[in-house]
Amino acid sequence: MLKQGLFICAVLVLTMPGIFSCVNNKKDMVTTESLGTFEGKDVFLYTLTNKKGDVIRITNYGASIVEINVPDRDGQKTNVTFGYDDLDSYIKGDPYFGKVVGQYANRIAKGRFSLDGVEYTLAINNEPNTLHGGPTGWHSRAWDPEVLKNTDYPAVKFTYHKPDMEEGYPGNVVAEVVYTWTDDNEIIMDYKVTTDRNTVINITNHAYFNLHGSGQGDILDHEILIRASAFTPVDSTLIPTGELRSVEGTPFDFRTPHLTGERIGDEYDQLKLGRGYDHNFILDNIEEVDAEVYDPSTGRVLQVITDQPGVQFYTGNFLDGTQTGRGGKVYAYRSGLCLETQHFPDSPNQPGFPSVLLTPEEPFLSSTIYRFSVR
Ligand code: GLA
Repeated sequence: MLKQGLFICAVLVLTMPGIFSCVNNKKDMVTTESLGTFEGKDVFLYTLTNKKGDVIRITNYGASIVEINVPDRDGQKTNVTFGYDDLDSYIKGDPYFGKVVGQYANRIAKGRFSLDGVEYTLAINNEPNTLHGGPTGWHSRAWDPEVLKNTDYPAVKFTYHKPDMEEGYPGNVVAEVVYTWTDDNEIIMDYKVTTDRNTVINITNHAYFNLHGSGQGDILDHEILIRASAFTPVDSTLIPTGELRSVEGTPFDFRTPHLTGERIGDEYDQLKLGRGYDHNFILDNIEEVDAEVYDPSTGRVLQVITDQPGVQFYTGNFLDGTQTGRGGKVYAYRSGLCLETQHFPDSPNQPGFPSVLLTPEEPFLSSTIYRFSVR
């Protein structure tokens, strides 16, 4: 069987060059398709199929998740994340759908921070702040891809070599993310980041989810659980004020499940400032699962598991229906939500927040899992 499988793979590679790469083993499979080139680098779409026959698609452009096809409680499969059909749309469309964001995910106040007595200046791409590593951050780069062999599950590694001072961040930095798609419908994202001199790091995946299926209604009827006893309130530019506020008695208490839309319109200062939920929750990090999304209508469940101290819960408040994604789906206001696992926003300027210092001595290692199931 194994030999037959390898033979079929070899035939596919020979007859359709550039379209197919080889299988990891007889059942788990990664196929590769060309999407074109960007800044002289080849861009590919990888299709990862697990033993259940469930499929995700990822690309080395922005090290992105493009598609996640998972069943509802009746076994009907649909894509539950935002993505585009072609490279041109990725380059011109919303910059963050499914992307790996770095070197500093989320905001840095006024595009400035000091490190080792030196002040660094960053591009302002979200007045008056820097957002998601700046306009040409890691989301907008073609990463070097490698389909991993001899793994338990289909897995692809993307690597980005960030030159010293690109987008204003010090250090020749090497960022790696390995995407693994397990037979339990988990996307495991393993990150490793190294530097040759002191710098700051905050890395996340910026996938949008709609458990009805992307482009099918809003997410206000999704039930959310976030195991966080506190959050970081923001000013009107979405920069944390430095306060760590208890969620107790507020619309930010998701320690028991609540519908996204249940309290989003409440007269509460932070919901006004955030235009909805667009806040960093300080994870308790006690139980295995840090956050969970449940869609009562389809039964789909997304669990988020991370070793990071925070998660940005964002309810798609800036989506406006101008983006058309895979299969002609239109991404309307609040039609997707994000759970961006991360360090806290603006940490380089906030001495009270956990450190985001990356030194040559110790790599940044981190894992986040998106686990899909039904109930
Ligand atoms: C993050 C931010 C939001 C928004 C989105 C991208 O979630 O916190 O304010 O910028 O990214 O649109």
